[in-house]
Amino acid sequence: MNAASESLPWLPAPLVGDLVREHGSPLYVYHEPTLRARCREVALMMPGRDFHPSVSIKTNGNPTLLAIARQEGLRGDAMSPGEILLLERAGFRSDEIFFIPNNVSREELVFAHERGILTSLDSLDQVRLAADVFAGGEVALRINPLVGDGHHGKVVTAGARVKFGILPSEVPQALEILAAGRVSVAGLNQHIGSGFLTAERYLEAANALLEVCRGVPSARFADFGGGFGIGYGGETRLDLSAVGAGLSCLLADWERETGRSLRAQVEPGRYVFAECGAILGTVHAIKERVGIHVAGCDIGFNVLQRPVLYDSYHHIDLVPQEVSDRPLVDVQWVGNICESGDILGHDRKCPLPKVGDHLVVRDAGAYGWAMSSSYNARPRAAEVLLAGDGSVRTIRRRETWEDLLSALP
Ligand code: LLP
Repeated sequence: MNAASESLPWLPAPLVGDLVREHGSPLYVYHEPTLRARCREVALMMPGRDFHPSVSIKTNGNPTLLAIARQEGLRGDAMSPGEILLLERAGFRSDEIFFIPNNVSREELVFAHERGILTSLDSLDQVRLAADVFAGGEVALRINPLVGDGHHGKVVTAGARVKFGILPSEVPQALEILAAGRVSVAGLNQHIGSGFLTAERYLEAANALLEVCRGVPSARFADFGGGFGIGYGGETRLDLSAVGAGLSCLLADWERETGRSLRAQVEPGRYVFAECGAILGTVHAIKERVGIHVAGCDIGFNVLQRPVLYDSYHHIDLVPQEVSDRPLVDVQWVGNICESGDILGHDRKCPLPKVGDHLVVRDAGAYGWAMSSSYNARPRAAEVLLAGDGSVRTIRRRETWEDLLSALP
């Protein structure tokens, strides 16, 4: 736990107070130069290759941020019609969007088909539906390569007992069903899980996907998925150049052996958005409890779900109201939601917080606002963007009580 003097370089302590005074608390803040830097790293992963990097927008669906990612050369992948609408709002064209749904209705497939958006199917039943909806057209197939990885069991998305994807052994049947509807397969995609810090399993799975591609002569691309991890607790983030070099090697071998060529695609989310975002909050009450100080703030799991859902660590900076020497104590950071599991940070060494202090939760730009809710009937937080020149603009207003009541009869 850092004191204010060790705060994020782009979020100095005086700015924290100013932002909360002007925009309220809790508040999501994003730093544009950090976002652009991460986008560029992704865009430059595989220099000299036919390569389409996308950003996975379930991570952060704010259209202003998505438009920046697009400017930096990223396409977008969507999981639902709502995410397609957000990408359209951000300026993405249909041919820049890849729809990768799971267990969707005919209407949702029709939604993508009518817009000419390439869609991936992830079960034989969805393939059957697509053979009709996309008759005479093209689709992609999501493969489960039976190799998974991720920071927590809940986010490992490939493996024998995982709900996602078509197994390699099911691909011939999928091709037969599609052939009956005159639907061809434009490419194969996969996503093995989220938040890994080493490339071994990703590359192992990439190799498995390329094996499947051999049996799909119409495939023009292989999308190896996202999942690139960052260091929430100070670990080194995944080395994208090593991933890019590993994929390039695998593809070069494959192309030499098959005489075909394939476009490479990836679709990270967290890597692009996590580090450019922070949440500012306010301390409202402190209690002393058997050797620990319980610091109650306004960042409950309605604002940031990750610590409760996955026991995820997010670094928390205390930003005291005044410069003073405070004793270092053990703090449990908690929110204002009516559940005792509403814990933002366990056992953090920290200068004693006081009512009115602010806190900064780091690395919250990915799966932060996107997974926030109005639980306990709390309107969702606002989002602001901090540009390189220091200017700040609101990119989502704070929800109001009227918003909470607006869908009621
Ligand atoms: N592609 C597909 C098909 C996905 O399902 C996902 C994430 C991604 C790409 C992007 O994964 P990323 O690069 O962001 O790891 N809420 C969890 C993560 C869930 C990931 C779901 N799928 C968390 O906060 O850790």
